[in-house]
This record gives sequence, structure tokens and C-alpha cells, in this order.
Amino acid sequence: MTIQADRTLEAAIELARERYIQRRPVGAAMDAEARRVMPGGNTRTVLYHPPFPMRVARGWGCRITDVDGFDYIDLLGEYTAGLYGHSNDTIRDAVRAALDQGLSLGAHNTYEARLAAAITDRFPSIELVRFTNSGTEANLMAVSLARVVTGRPGIAVAVGGYHGGLMYYGGGGSPVNAPFETVLLHYNDIDQSVAALHQHADSLAALVIEGVQGSAGCITADVEYLRALRDATSELGIAFIADEVMTSRLAPHGYCAAVGIRPDLITLGKYLGGGLTFGAFGGRADWMARFDPSSPDALPHAGTFNNNVLTMAAGLAGLTEVIDDAVIIDLNERGDRLRRGLHEAVSPFGWCATGHGSMVGLHPVSGPVRSTADLSEANPHLRELLFLELLERGWYIAARGFIALSIEIADDDIENFIAAVTDVFAENPELRAAI
Ligand SMILES: Cc1ncc(COP(=O)(O)O)c(C=O)c1O
Repeated sequence: MTIQADRTLEAAIELARERYIQRRPVGAAMDAEARRVMPGGNTRTVLYHPPFPMRVARGWGCRITDVDGFDYIDLLGEYTAGLYGHSNDTIRDAVRAALDQGLSLGAHNTYEARLAAAITDRFPSIELVRFTNSGTEANLMAVSLARVVTGRPGIAVAVGGYHGGLMYYGGGGSPVNAPFETVLLHYNDIDQSVAALHQHADSLAALVIEGVQGSAGCITADVEYLRALRDATSELGIAFIADEVMTSRLAPHGYCAAVGIRPDLITLGKYLGGGLTFGAFGGRADWMARFDPSSPDALPHAGTFNNNVLTMAAGLAGLTEVIDDAVIIDLNERGDRLRRGLHEAVSPFGWCATGHGSMVGLHPVSGPVRSTADLSEANPHLRELLFLELLERGWYIAARGFIALSIEIADDDIENFIAAVTDVFAENPELRAAI
């Protein structure tokens, strides 16, 4: 991009930000209040965007209303956790029924084993499962289990991988990461990755990998890449942990099953809790059995809310009454149509659409995007302008260009969104400066 184009883009963003502020006085006031008591007014970093973040008052179906009264169609889908939309009747009924039986029971309840059965039925490599409160915790537990069973300390992860707030490997890794010894693999680079696994095998307990890197920008792994990692980890005695916190939604039995990979452990989260706080890890029965508290040398796995009744009831209703194979296939076909339509609309301007099924990324680079290195030239200002312009037209996506469809999104919404994006590019020449 030329210096002149960059200046024009900055001016366009200033205008878009100003318009955003002017039209949202309630949001601005609430942000100022929040800043008095929370750092940056925020308790979940990903939700921050300038000039101040969207603040939503209510949601129903696939729609949300912000605190200033503007309505949007929600294509962010709570970063994949909102698969069921905001007000699914079946899930609401299940939560109400659980609520009527009382909270904080301090004992096993009538839901958890049924949810565990629904999960082991759905995901073939999960023979036994345990619940946590988040995907982050699920990954920490899975890695910790692998460290015990292998007797080795370290982990291998892909550059750009996101496995939770304490396991983030974009941009050289986060300073608040859990202090595991870490070997970095280049996503989709078989030679480098397999060589690194061999080189560090003696110290590696586990490989943790996403079949589609979600937070990194919806970057899909080649199936041959995943197979090469599976073969190498089997040969070297390294646990293969598939992080399916996002990708389990991409096929009826999860992404690994769809591409023919059998991990040792899988981690889950997001929508599987029916929209409530959730995580799970599971896999090989011989490893998971180490947590059996009736055995004398059982590993501990604590968590006051691991089996909280609202999550267990909501997750169970969602898995057994709301989605089935057909719903999941349909959702992901709709996502594929969206991605194709978006790519067609933006590729003439040097942008691309990435992802798989119901997870879609929009990027100001021409692609193909096979690893985060291919996004290094993506101009964040271009993303911001698209985001703010879409908000003005009543569409909500992640500021970084991430989209996750809910089952409430209809075919018309897909068509209308592609038309909205086409319109934004037609009306904003600055966005076309990606080329
Ligand atoms: C692939 C992946 N793993 C783990 C996590 C962490 O899950 P949670 O936010 O529930 O801790 C996320 C969250 O976005 C994720 O995308």
C-alpha cells in the first residue's frame, strides 16, 4: 500500500470511528464507567476493539441489540460457542427445568453421565470423558495427563495455535502462557514439523494441534499434514491431543473423525455446553482411567463447577434434542456457501475468505493462507474499516474478520451478508487498497 493510500485509509477509519462514537452515547458512557473498575473496561481481551467495544443489551435467535438500540444480525456466533443462537427454546426449557431442581447441589447430579454418554457416542475416539469449566482448562488438563503418562515435560504446538488464554502461540507466544517447555511447529510444513518432533522427542509429552486454526484466522491444515503428525507422534510415543474446542462443530463426529485421524486425547468446549461455560477432555480409556478416584493411585481432577447442573442440562439438551447429523451437515454446507460467495466478492480487491464449513475468516491478503506467516502483510486498519462499515449496516462479525455461523442463520442471511460486503467494498475505495 502506498503512503498516500495509507493516509486515506487512516482518514476513513477516523471518520468511521467518529460516527461509531456519535451514534452510541450509551455505549460510550458505559465504557467509561467500566474503565473505572476494570483494566480498559474489559474482562475478556478478544472483545476489545477501538474506539470502545460493542456492548449488547439482548439477543434472540441470531439477532442482537446493542445498548444504544441498534439491531444486528450476529455472524460472530460467540466465537463458535453460540451455535444454538441466543434463545433456543429447547435449551431454555432444559435450563429452566434444571433451575427448578436447585443449584449448587454439591454432589453428582442426574445430568452429567448422560451428557458424557452423548459426547462419547458422538466423538469416536473419546472413550472416557471429564468436564471442566473452559476449553483452556481442558487443554491444561489434557497436557498434564500426557505429561504424567509419558513421563516427559514438554509440548509441541503450531505457531499461531490458540489453546486458551494460557496456551496461545501467536506472535512468538504469550507472556502469560503456562510455563510448559514448548517446541514450535510451522503449521502445514510437514518437513519442519516432523523433524522438530523427532529432534525433541525425548522431552515431548504431547503435540497439541487444531485441525483448523480458529483464532489464527480460520486456517485449515492439509489432511496429509495431520496424518504426518499422527504418524510421527505414534512412532515417537508423543500424545496426539486434538484441540477440537472449535472444530468439533465442523462435522457430525468432529473434525478428526471426518479426516480419519484418531487422537489420543481430544479437548472440547464452546457450544457443547449449550451456551453456558464449558470444557471437556477425553480419549483413550487406559489414560483417562487414571482419574478414577476409586483407584489407590488416582490422579486428582478438581473443579467446583465441573458438573454444574445448568451447563450439564443445557449441553445435554443441545446435543440430544437440537442437533443431529443433518443439522451439523446443513450448518457447515451453509458456511461453505458463505465462504465461496464472500471469496468471489472480495478476491478482486486482494482479499480472501478462508476456513472450513461454518468457520469463516475474511482477510486483506490475496491468499492462499496456509499459516499465520501468510497473514503477516494483512493491514489491521483494513480489517477495522470493514468491521465498522458492517456494523453500520447491521452486521456483527469479529473485529478481526472471524465468522462462526449459528443454526439460526438462514440462507437469506447468507445472501444478504454477501450483498452487504459487496456494498461496503463498492462504497469504500480505501478497502480496495489491499491490492
Ligand atoms: C481452539 C481453542 N482452544 C481452546 C480455547 C479456549 O477455550 P475457552 O475460551 O473456553 O477457555 C479456544 C477459545 O477460543 C479455542 O478456540
